Amino acid sequence: MSMDSSEAQVQAAGCPVGGDLLEATLTDPVVQARPNAFYQALRSQDPVHFDAKLGMYLVSRYEDLQTVLRDPLTFSVQKGYAEQYAKGFAAEFKEIVTRDGGGFFTDAIMSDPPYHTRIRKLMEKAFTAHRVKLLEPQITAIVSGMIERMADKGAGDGVKEFAVPMTIAIICAQLGLDHFDAQRIQRWSIAVTAQIGRMQTREQMLAHAKDICDLQNYLIARVREREAEPREDMISDLVHARIDDPEHPKLTFSEVVSSVRALLIAGNETTATALGNLLYIFATQPEMAARLYQYVDDDRMLNRFVEELLRLEPPVRGLSRMVTREVELGGKVLPAGAHLLLLYASANDDEQEFPCPRSFDANRGNLGRHLSFGAGIHRCVGLSLARMEIKVAAREFVRRLDHIKLAIAPEEITYLPTVATRSIERLPLTFARRA
Ligand code: HEM
Repeated sequence: MSMDSSEAQVQAAGCPVGGDLLEATLTDPVVQARPNAFYQALRSQDPVHFDAKLGMYLVSRYEDLQTVLRDPLTFSVQKGYAEQYAKGFAAEFKEIVTRDGGGFFTDAIMSDPPYHTRIRKLMEKAFTAHRVKLLEPQITAIVSGMIERMADKGAGDGVKEFAVPMTIAIICAQLGLDHFDAQRIQRWSIAVTAQIGRMQTREQMLAHAKDICDLQNYLIARVREREAEPREDMISDLVHARIDDPEHPKLTFSEVVSSVRALLIAGNETTATALGNLLYIFATQPEMAARLYQYVDDDRMLNRFVEELLRLEPPVRGLSRMVTREVELGGKVLPAGAHLLLLYASANDDEQEFPCPRSFDANRGNLGRHLSFGAGIHRCVGLSLARMEIKVAAREFVRRLDHIKLAIAPEEITYLPTVATRSIERLPLTFARRA
């Protein structure tokens, strides 16, 4: 399955960079929406480029990202994350969630070794072989049920009516959150991700802080229930997980709350973005949907399709690190305290690693080397769940729907205003039930 992406042409044509990096910034919504020419200019002109408006060095080459990801002590997640959190409003934000949201629960997983090593081991207990085995039939039932309910309507929003409710239903089923309110969970997700996106105003921060209080109070109640009585779900797995560590064999209460919050948010925003991208590709390149239909029973080809989709359209654009000692990266000397944005999306686009990077080619020899899930010790802990969701959704969409088309012009598609992800906001589609 291979083809030149017409999206590549749209992206190049729509990008205002014109090769001059000094004029461009990733804070510009137009660059955020059509970033590939900007990434290309970064890689070829200044691979570790200081974006003055963002206040961060943009790391854009595959090789340099690998260098960073291999050395988590020089390039700290904890410091980068803390520095970026609620940028500009951190003190006020902390005060609000401490007063009204049960506490300021630092993101336990966004930490450095040795602390991270313990949290990560405990968190992995929620992704046991036993739980992963349950996934495919459960996910297939949720996804096919939702598509069936929409199939005869002939039109709907690919993000709001498919991608977001699907991923919310799946992560809630895994965590054991019954009777969830999908809209409320989406609001929570937006509020949490906005804290690392660097784009919120004070008014937005106040609204987001209120939503985060609501989220935390909800989760605290669910964790207390599992403490009293374990169930067959991920929250119970986290509450009762044990490792061989004489001093800290289990997660503390605040670590459980923060881990559940991380799984709920990381597990839905990113995957919903991937499903939005999947539907966008089906709608703009119908030949892709037609070809995939031939492979619905071929698990190997479906898996390859998913990996190439993730490489070509990575949901997570970039996440931060902070340099803890003076270090050279990509030919540039960075001082201690320099704040980096690791552009996973640009690494996936690096022609040194992936020839013809804007072409969709599910037969690439190095398909699995993309950085959409990161690499090293922080590599996505939920990747098996994410891959399964996207595979099942791809299969069930083409099995059940045909003639998927955009109901607006591609140029009218807008993206969430954030440097952390590249997420389609709304995707009006028309479609027919497959005969
Ligand atoms: C297509 C979907 C997804 C994408 C693209 C994605 C991407 C990523 C990336 C790039 C990282 C690395 C962070 C870093 O380098 O700082 C990461 C970490 C993480 N992801 Fe995912 N993710 C996805 C789905 C999920 C799901 C479904 C879950 C959980 C249910 C999840 C939970 C996490 C957690 C907890 C971490 C932190 C791991 C650590 O620091 O050790 N993600 N993810």
